[in-house]
Amino acid sequence: MAYRAVCRQQSLLEGEMAAFEIQGHDFIVLWPEESEPRAFGGACPHQGVPLRRGFFNGRTLTCPLHQWVFDGRDGLGLNAGCQLKSYPLRIREGMVEVDHPGFMEADFTGADSHGH
Ligand code: FES
Repeated sequence: MAYRAVCRQQSLLEGEMAAFEIQGHDFIVLWPEESEPRAFGGACPHQGVPLRRGFFNGRTLTCPLHQWVFDGRDGLGLNAGCQLKSYPLRIREGMVEVDHPGFMEADFTGADSHGH
């Protein structure tokens, strides 16, 4: 487990998306309305387009390239048989923390090992 603080809790807004790149790993945080913030991989599972360029309407995220639609609560593809990769997210002392397998403690070299 390697939770890392990614932003202040205050900087997330319900119904909105935030995008991050940490140690070379792209991910997004979606906070669906009447739900909890969730962290997902930042690349579309179809052809890898950055999902930060997608459109989040507060419930679903639409990829800009071929309009695949994903449920913001669990990343489930609604018009495609796939699911966004999700990562554990927690709130600690006012900070949003994400556990991404690519995060390495005190490693800012951007190494692309996935640890498998
Ligand atoms: S790359 Fe996202 S739907 Fe095709």
